[in-house]
Amino acid sequence: MLLAVSTQTSIGLFVLFLSLVIAVVFGLVNLRQGRAEVGSEIELAPNRKPYLPDAELEGRKLDRTLSIGLLGLFILGIGLPLYWLQEPSRQEGAEERIREEFIQRGEHMFAPTAEGGYNCAFCHGPDGGGGSTPYTITDAEGRFVKEVQWKGPALNTIFLRYSREEIRYVLEYGRLATPMPAWGTKGGGPLTEQQLQNLIDYIGTFQITKEESQQQVAEELPKAMDERDATCVSARTDAAKAGMTEEELASFDASTVDTDSCPLAWDSEGEALFNLGYNDGFAGGAYSCGRCHTPGWSYGEKGEDGSGAMGPNLGGVLTQFPGDVLGVTQMTDFVCTGSTNGARYGQYGQGSGRMPGFCVVPAVEAADGEVGVVAHDVGTAEDGGMYTQEQVQQIVEYVRSLAR
Ligand code: HEC
Ligand code: HEC
Repeated sequence: MLLAVSTQTSIGLFVLFLSLVIAVVFGLVNLRQGRAEVGSEIELAPNRKPYLPDAELEGRKLDRTLSIGLLGLFILGIGLPLYWLQEPSRQEGAEERIREEFIQRGEHMFAPTAEGGYNCAFCHGPDGGGGSTPYTITDAEGRFVKEVQWKGPALNTIFLRYSREEIRYVLEYGRLATPMPAWGTKGGGPLTEQQLQNLIDYIGTFQITKEESQQQVAEELPKAMDERDATCVSARTDAAKAGMTEEELASFDASTVDTDSCPLAWDSEGEALFNLGYNDGFAGGAYSCGRCHTPGWSYGEKGEDGSGAMGPNLGGVLTQFPGDVLGVTQMTDFVCTGSTNGARYGQYGQGSGRMPGFCVVPAVEAADGEVGVVAHDVGTAEDGGMYTQEQVQQIVEYVRSLAR
């Protein structure tokens, strides 16, 4: 790594080596030329020796000395500006090197426990594409309630919904009453601010684009619209299993159960998008609203849509965003951009920054002291984010129909 750093370093090392060689040779030659004392001081003292005659001194010798001086001047006059010209790219190179090192450190922390990491990859998927994790739900006194399988949202779209600062907040404090632990020292976790930045930098390297995200939704939505009601499906499956022997159960294939007569899981695209990934775990539920606004959503036992969990109950949206036309527009804007910590929204809302933005890609900017962050401006609703603006509006219509 150190040797491959840059050609500049290697040239520097070479020049250093060359100077050392010259110094040693010079010393040796001097030692050899020093003559032993053999006679009187008058004979030997170099300052008593007759020197070159004027004609020679002021001729070739002078020319040579002046030429050497001129050459030195050239080296200074051209070499220094050249070095100065290189300076910006040298600094850029240094920044790039720091960035690469940060990303490598982040990658190491993201890895599974077996590889010495902090296991983000286990709960959020090896490539951050979403996963799930066993989790023990306890009551307020810490008593066992039940064992569930909790969805871990995909992180390969996290920059499409959150700013760096908001991502940092989740990492710092974790999510209370979910499997997501606090990682930062402020939240009681093991990682320093620098390590959190390294993680965020690494997560930034595997993001998909908004176009890719919208493409994935376009492929997933028709599948979701074909899904059958989960309660009916599990009842049919249980009925089919009833009375089977051990061997039959072992080779049982759930897809052979006839569920076509079960009602469809979702009545509208808005409802399907609100719950995207609920049945098949698509992107670990990252696109859904239910994972934050519906109790039990993340472990497949969802209550009434929008009845409130980490995010508030959505029953009040008609007073939060009033008006049949204006309300839809303002609510769509809010869901598109998400909330900002400390900023007001709607009629009486106060944002915490935890509500993600679904169709406007947040700006990227470096926080105080962050090095090597590639900044970009906030996106537009027309270009969309994880969802298109139309899809967010479909969701908004669905949520408003619940509140009516
Ligand atoms: C034990 C499992 C687990 C581990 C380990 C874990 N997470 Fe999480 N993480 C979760 C779950 C589950 C959620 C969603 C919580 C919820 O339902 O609100 C989450 C949420 C998040 C979020 C917010 C995503 C969003 O859109 O709401 C980020 C960012 C995140 N995790 C990053 C990390 C990073 C980085 C690491 C490694 C240092 C990590 N997580 C380790 C389970 C885990
Ligand atoms: C990661 C969790 C999370 C997800 C996912 C999420 N929200 Fe939210 N939402 C919140 C939080 C938290 C708030 C409260 C505002 C705040 O704290 O900034 C909120 C607030 C809201 C509000 C304002 C409610 C009110 O009356 O004040 C609406 C509307 C809303 N969310 C809709 C949605 C929709 C629609 C989706 C899906 C497209 C969604 N949310 C996905 C966490 C989430």
